[in-house]
Amino acid sequence: MEASATSKLLVSDIASSVDHVPSNYVRPISDRPNLSIETSGDSIPMIDLQELHGPNRADVIYQVAHACASYGFFQIKNHGVPEKTIERMMTVAREFFRQPESERVKHYSADTKKTTRLSTSFNVGSEKVSNWREFLRLHCLPIEDFISEWPSSPVSFREVTAEYATSVRALVLVLLEEISESVGLAKDSDCKASNTLGKHSQHMALNYYPPCPQADLTFGLPGHKDPNLISALLQDEVSGLQVFKDGKWIAVHPVPNTFIVNVGDQMQVISNDKYKSVLHRAVVNSDKEWISIPTFYCPSLDAVVGPQPMAVPVTPLSYTWVRLCPQQELINEEEESHAVYRSFTYAEYYEKFWDRALAIELY
Ligand code: OGA
Ligand code: NI
Repeated sequence: MEASATSKLLVSDIASSVDHVPSNYVRPISDRPNLSIETSGDSIPMIDLQELHGPNRADVIYQVAHACASYGFFQIKNHGVPEKTIERMMTVAREFFRQPESERVKHYSADTKKTTRLSTSFNVGSEKVSNWREFLRLHCLPIEDFISEWPSSPVSFREVTAEYATSVRALVLVLLEEISESVGLAKDSDCKASNTLGKHSQHMALNYYPPCPQADLTFGLPGHKDPNLISALLQDEVSGLQVFKDGKWIAVHPVPNTFIVNVGDQMQVISNDKYKSVLHRAVVNSDKEWISIPTFYCPSLDAVVGPQPMAVPVTPLSYTWVRLCPQQELINEEEESHAVYRSFTYAEYYEKFWDRALAIELY
């Protein structure tokens, strides 16, 4: 443990003893959550994966294309991850965060390169305003390389998390096939999304958002885009995720036994901007704790990521996004479409993600 044994290191332990948020959590007035949208009706599409292997497959693929291009987000049901696996994962996550700080803090590290670590906020090393979140981040592919680092308390933690990670990986691989097909990446070729990732890596976060006495002043996680390829998020029954769509934030209402899937930055690059990695954020709640468990599917750090040739022409877009990726040369001369991004290694990209500290420049 690198943390000095200071008490009140973690936000959950601050949360239980204050009736106002400490000043380092207070956002400027222009950058505060709008909690009232939680009741608005608009939400992201729900896609039923049941039909994927039947005669309506093309329709499901169309729905995926529409969701990825218009929202960057969708929800899925009948996804194949057993209900029991989901329930066990949520239960063990809740149990983990209910342990005393002295137990949890054994895993504390502010080093973003550590493959298993507990931390708080987003990146305590680089950010100016803190976020009302505690999280346990785990690398989980291949499981045998990391499982011995994972918490051994609660006693079932490793077994339950391994089962969950394996099951979610299988789902993610199905989603990558669908998304590749939907965006026009040639099937069974070297350029379909899952073949551009090198060895693949998979991370999970167990996010714990304690009740917050002034939920209108701070975020659990401020607006950000996920740096990885795709994410699959499991939420408990408390609503807190918001997605940016057409200039406004929309709330994503939790539906039991579904996952929320979103396009990450690398999918935006591979698809040459056809699909967008979209801003999203987590707001906190004044009387309820909430837990979310995102799985981040990523290229391996040495994988070279860049726009892939499409089976269908890609419209050149002027959208400029991370400064890292200036517009460059043609990728597909036959179809005269322009690669919006230069190629880069995932390591190069990922480091900048943590350094940026989810800063406002994303807007
Ligand atoms: C994330 C994230 C949202 C949530 O961890 O990247 O977007 O609902 N989490 O916790
Ligand atoms: Ni995210």
